Amino acid sequence: MKKYNRHLVTAALPYANGPVHIGHLAGVYIPADIYVRYLKMKQEDVLFVCGSDEHGVPITIKAKNEGVSPQAIVDRYHNLIRDSFKEFGIEFSNYSRTSGAAHHKVSSDFFKTLYDKGQFIEEESEQYYDTQAQQFLADRYILGTCPKCGNKRAYGDQCEDCGTSLSPLELINPVSTLSGDKPVLKKTTHWYLPLQKHEPFLKKWILEEHTEWKPNVYGQCKSWIDGGLHSRAVSRDLNWGVPVPLEHAAGKVLYVWFDAPIGYITSTQECTPDWEKYWKAEDSKLVHFIGKDNIVFHCIVFPTMLKAHGEYILPENVPANEFLNLEGGKISTSRNWAVWLHEYLQDFKDQQDTLRYVLTANAPETKDNDFTWADFQARNNNELVAILGNFVNRVVVLTHKYFDGKVPACNTLEKIDTQALESIHIAKKSVAEHIETYKFREALKEAMQLARTGNKYLAETEPWKLAKTDMERVKTILHVSLQITANLGLLLEPFIPFAAQKIRNCVQLTKVSWEEINTAILSENQEISNIALLFKKIEDEEIAYQNKKLRDTLKENETEDANTNIKPQKDTIEYPDFEKMDIRVGTILEAEKVPKTDKLMKLRVDVGTDTRTIVSGIAQYFKPEEIIGKQVSVLINLQARKLRGIESQGMVLMAENADGTLHFINPEKNIENGSAIC
Ligand code: 2FM
Ligand code: ZN
Repeated sequence: MKKYNRHLVTAALPYANGPVHIGHLAGVYIPADIYVRYLKMKQEDVLFVCGSDEHGVPITIKAKNEGVSPQAIVDRYHNLIRDSFKEFGIEFSNYSRTSGAAHHKVSSDFFKTLYDKGQFIEEESEQYYDTQAQQFLADRYILGTCPKCGNKRAYGDQCEDCGTSLSPLELINPVSTLSGDKPVLKKTTHWYLPLQKHEPFLKKWILEEHTEWKPNVYGQCKSWIDGGLHSRAVSRDLNWGVPVPLEHAAGKVLYVWFDAPIGYITSTQECTPDWEKYWKAEDSKLVHFIGKDNIVFHCIVFPTMLKAHGEYILPENVPANEFLNLEGGKISTSRNWAVWLHEYLQDFKDQQDTLRYVLTANAPETKDNDFTWADFQARNNNELVAILGNFVNRVVVLTHKYFDGKVPACNTLEKIDTQALESIHIAKKSVAEHIETYKFREALKEAMQLARTGNKYLAETEPWKLAKTDMERVKTILHVSLQITANLGLLLEPFIPFAAQKIRNCVQLTKVSWEEINTAILSENQEISNIALLFKKIEDEEIAYQNKKLRDTLKENETEDANTNIKPQKDTIEYPDFEKMDIRVGTILEAEKVPKTDKLMKLRVDVGTDTRTIVSGIAQYFKPEEIIGKQVSVLINLQARKLRGIESQGMVLMAENADGTLHFINPEKNIENGSAIC
C-alpha cells in the first residue's frame, strides 16, 4: 500500500441558496468529519476544506424572486450554513466561499492556464435566448419536457425526476422560466473542455486503477465513459459568477461547476502558505466526500481539469453516498421537505450527537435510505441511552460508591475479564479498518459493540451483588469496566465527539490519540470525575411535534400544488374573436337536476333579453335550492344544442379551480339582468 505523508480531505461545497439539512449531513459532512477526526487521532497531517458554493443559476433566481442581489442571498446562507456545521462539530480547517476575491483570482488563473495551454475549444453555437428578458437561458432558466422520462418540468441542466443531465437543446417544448415565453435560438461563443480527448487517461485511471472505488461511484463513472465522453461548456452567458478572464468574453462567466471544485484549492490556500504540498506532492492523499449527484463532476470533469492543468495530484478516492429520504419522501429545499439543522438545534438542544449517531447508523452508503422520526427516537432511547449511556453511568456510579471515585486495582483476571478486555483490541482494529475503507456505518456498529459488551459484562458479573461478599473481585470487574469506558471515549470520538469528550473528561483522559486505545489506558487510583448525563431520553411528544411539522408542510405543499396547477395559456386570439361573444349577467330563477345524470342541471335563467332554459354541468357542485336567485354570467349567443333531450340556449360561465371544483362568476353586487360583460 502506498505511504502518504499528508491528507487533503474535501467536502462538497454546499450551494448558499438555502440552509443545510439532514441529507447534507448524512451524505457528505458526517462521513467526512468521521474520517478526518480518525486521521487526526492517528496523528496524521490532515487538512479538511470546504466552503460555500455561491454561484449558479438557482442563486440568481432566488435573488430575483426576493428582489435582492445574489450577493445578499449568499451572504445570508453562507453564515447560517457555516454556523450549523460548527454546531454539529464538523471541524473544517477552513470554510471558504466562492464569491470572495481570493476564489475569483484562483479560478480565473486556473482557467487562464488551461486556456493558454490550448486545453479548451472555443466555439460559436446557437443557444436559447429570451427576447423579453434579453438573456440567454442557461441551466435552470429554462424548463421543458425531459426527453428521457417525459417529466414536464425538467431543467436545462438536469431532470430531477430521472436524474439525467441535460442540455437546454434537448428539452422538448422549452419555455423560459424568466418570462414564460418560448425561447428563440441565438448565436453565442463559449469555451468547452473536450472530455473525449482525455478518454484514454480516464479509462486507465478509473476503470483500471481504481476498481476499489465504491460500486456506486465506479459504476457511474463506467457508464459515463462507456456512453462516450463529449465536450462540456465551462462558461455561461450570465452576470453572476467569475468573469471569464479573456478580453473577448464580456458578459460571460465561468460555469459554476468549473469554478466550484477549484474552491477546494482556494480554501486550502486560505489554510496555509504550504498549500501546494497538499495539492501537488505525490505523497499527499486527496479524498473528495460528495453526494451521488456530484459523481461525474468529481470523478471525471474535475480530474480532467487537474490533469489538463498539469501540476496537481488526482483524488485517491471519491466516497460518494446515495441519498437520504425523509419519511418516505425525497428531501427538497424548495418544498421544505427537510429537517433543517438550525431548526433541529433549537428543538433538540445539545443533542447533536444523537443526530450524528442516527445519520451514521442509517447512512445511505450503498443505497438510498429513509430517515424517520420514529427510528431517530428508537435509536436514541434504545441504543444511546439504554446501552452506551447506561453502561458508562453504571460504571461511574459504582466506582464512586465503592471506591471513592478512584480506579480500583486489577486483581486476578478470569476468562470473562480477559474476553472483555480483548474486545477493546477487536474494536480498535475493526473500527480502523472500516473507517479506512469508508464504511462508517459498520465502523460505528463495531464501536458500539464495545458498549454492548460492557453492558453484558456487567450484567453477567453483577458487581453490585458481589460487593456484599467479595470486594476484591468487584475491584477487578470495575477496573475492567473502567478500561472499557475510557476506550469508548476514544473509539467514539470520530462519531459522537461531544459524548466522547464527556467520557474522556470523566475518566480524565487528555490525549486524543488512536494509539492510546488499549487495555491499560487507566492506571490504578486514577481519579474518576462525576459524569453529566450523556444522552437524554427523547419523549413521544417531541416526536409527535416533529411529525406534525412535517404533516403541516405536506398540507402546505398540497395547497400550493393545487394553486400552481394552472393550465397554460391558449393560443392568442384577435379582438374581433372576443367581440363575437355576447356575455350577459343573468339570474337563475329555477333549477332542477336532470334525471338519470350526475352532472347536469336544468336552469331557467333571466338574461335580461328574455328568460331561457340552459343545461349546465354543475350538478355535482351545487344543490338546486342553493343557487336559485344567484346572478351568473351567461354566454347567450352560443348556438343552441340538445342535451339529454333538453334544448340548452346558452352557457353559464364557470371558473374551474385547479382542484377541479366549479364556481360561479358573478358581479360583486347585484346588477340589472342583461348587463353586458365586456
Ligand atoms: O451539489 C452541490 O451542492 C454543489 N454545490 C456541490 C459542489 S462541490 C464542489 F465542486 F464544489
Ligand atoms: Zn427525466
